[in-house]
Amino acid sequence: MLDSLERLPPDSILGLAAIARADTNPHKIDLTVGVYMDESGITPVFDAIASAQRTLVENETTKVYMAPSGDEQFNLGMRKLVLGEDSAALRDNRVSSIQAPGGCGALRIGAEIIQAARPGARVWVSDPTWPVHIPLLGSVGLKFETYRYYDPASHGVNFDAMVEDLKQAGPDDVLLLHGCCHNPCGADLTLEQWGVIADMAEAQGFMPFVDIAYQGMGDGLEQDAAGIRLLAERLPEMIVAASCSKNMGLYRERTGITLFVCRDTDNAEALLSQAAVAARRVYSMPPAHGAILAGKVLSDPALTASWKQELEGMCSRINSLRSALVRELAAQCDRDFSFIANEKGMFSFLGLTKEQALLLRSEHSVYMLDSSRINVAGINAGNVAPLAKAVASVL
Ligand code: LMR
Repeated sequence: MLDSLERLPPDSILGLAAIARADTNPHKIDLTVGVYMDESGITPVFDAIASAQRTLVENETTKVYMAPSGDEQFNLGMRKLVLGEDSAALRDNRVSSIQAPGGCGALRIGAEIIQAARPGARVWVSDPTWPVHIPLLGSVGLKFETYRYYDPASHGVNFDAMVEDLKQAGPDDVLLLHGCCHNPCGADLTLEQWGVIADMAEAQGFMPFVDIAYQGMGDGLEQDAAGIRLLAERLPEMIVAASCSKNMGLYRERTGITLFVCRDTDNAEALLSQAAVAARRVYSMPPAHGAILAGKVLSDPALTASWKQELEGMCSRINSLRSALVRELAAQCDRDFSFIANEKGMFSFLGLTKEQALLLRSEHSVYMLDSSRINVAGINAGNVAPLAKAVASVL
């Protein structure tokens, strides 16, 4: 039976990251997978997380199963982090949530709920979107439509085209949005544009499903959630999948959450029961470690303050790396790369061809995705000039 299965090609992101890791060139530059790296190329453990972890290790008395909905402190903290302390939906008790194994697990739970409510529903995804979105949501049976989003000519959002395409979305459809720091292009909607999306959702009845994996990595924790909060204030229902991989550095701990903003308390409770059954079908209950740590950080004022300060430092470092790259590229070549400084979060499309990206890999040990998506957080003071020089050489 099993010998009928063929070897599959490696994942377009993780496979390339493995190739970059294996490259023995001491001057290699790895801009593949979206993880934060400091000046020495390390992805650090946040001080607040390390401190919460010490407390946990000293006081933990059991490893018994978590409840299907996960850690209570984590759920409460994350609802406030995403929707805001003063969220009317939270006040009205029309939000429920379930801890999930990472942002992917959170997306999967959201997809399971959509599939239960509207089997085979159409999900509108941005062109481009994170390559895992389609297989992940499609695996439960959802269907896809694409809306135009990124305009390579202007290096920004083509909002008119997005609106034009979404005019076809109806009450049985779902609109998948990136909450902030669009992956892969780094081009985000303005708050005014989020308002237009809310108008359209109200008028046409489609439901937003927002993936927020980079809250705090763009303009700050509050600013990055402003679009989601606007939708939550205005619309009767939406789903949010949030991840603590990047903003708490909990990548390998698989710490995420699915939030359901519902019409009323009854519906919120109904969705939680559905989500718990969906989780039972797929993985039973979530992993404990990361969510307990995140829950402690979000509920202890001193840890929260320390975490926020460290996160702000990362965010401003990424933004200064963007400016440094723009400066170096301007010094090395004629092409205008100033758009890199206007984008948000870890990613940017350099606008190179696939051939140029491959050449950078083979000739310079500079690793970026075939689409020329770079992880800006992989740049540092030591590699920014060689990177710009290598890019200039393939243009
Ligand atoms: C990325 O896009 O590089 C990250 O979200 C990591 C991943 O799982 O693909």
